[in-house]
Amino acid sequence: MAETKRKKTIIANWKMNFTMHEASIFLHKLSDKVKAKRGVEVVLAPSIFTLQSLSLQVKKRQFKLAAQNFYWRDFGAFTGEVSIAQLKGIVDYGMVGHSERRHIFGEQDKDLRDKVAAALRSGIQPILCIGETANEREFGETGDVIYDQLVGGLTQVTSEDMKNVLIAYEPVWAISTTQNAKPCTPEDAEKAVEMIREHIRHLYGKKAGDEVRVLFGGSVDGDNAAGYLGVKGVDGALVGGASLKVDAFNSVVEKANALVS
Ligand code: PGA
Repeated sequence: MAETKRKKTIIANWKMNFTMHEASIFLHKLSDKVKAKRGVEVVLAPSIFTLQSLSLQVKKRQFKLAAQNFYWRDFGAFTGEVSIAQLKGIVDYGMVGHSERRHIFGEQDKDLRDKVAAALRSGIQPILCIGETANEREFGETGDVIYDQLVGGLTQVTSEDMKNVLIAYEPVWAISTTQNAKPCTPEDAEKAVEMIREHIRHLYGKKAGDEVRVLFGGSVDGDNAAGYLGVKGVDGALVGGASLKVDAFNSVVEKANALVS
């Protein structure tokens, strides 16, 4: 049977970088350089305060936008928060549970499942980020962590909604800003991504497991992207550090372009 065709998705996670002015100039440079082929989607995740302004500048056919984070209540007395309902019409995607949210800001599965549900309620596709720490990996807990974070984050997701959810596997120990970060081999990425699909099949049925877009993240750059993007079951990359450089990011997109006919 033919393999399910899934879109390649490359996400630029700018994290807390760029002033408004710098973000605008950077987007201008990216717009000149990055040409994604049909079948490749490029998503920019700038910091939340630049989103609205960039949404006016961005060519929507060239780049989609994502929120790096958001609060799960739609409106109300939640000082300092931005809800995904407020970002409706601006973003297509919302990242949920990035490891920096989990480990620096202490977000738990119970918070994340509400964010996944809030995004779906607002018609925005959640990207649930999961991945084990170096310690968990050392103790052989990778499979358990992946399972727990998936089940924890997807608790409120119905089979019908599952087609709008993306998963990003980001082993925390391979993220460039992590102390002593080391590269995840494509073989390790493949094992983890297959586990993820298997869990989704188990939870939502074979079709859902075959169709869900699963991205890899962790020090992806122009030099190693082909290796990760070539892994069976990997549909794209969540790029941090390398997404702050036009050439490096473009090179990742080019590697994805090379994989679609
Ligand atoms: P990195 O970041 O590419 O710099 O490792 C990825 C991420 O944290 O999303």
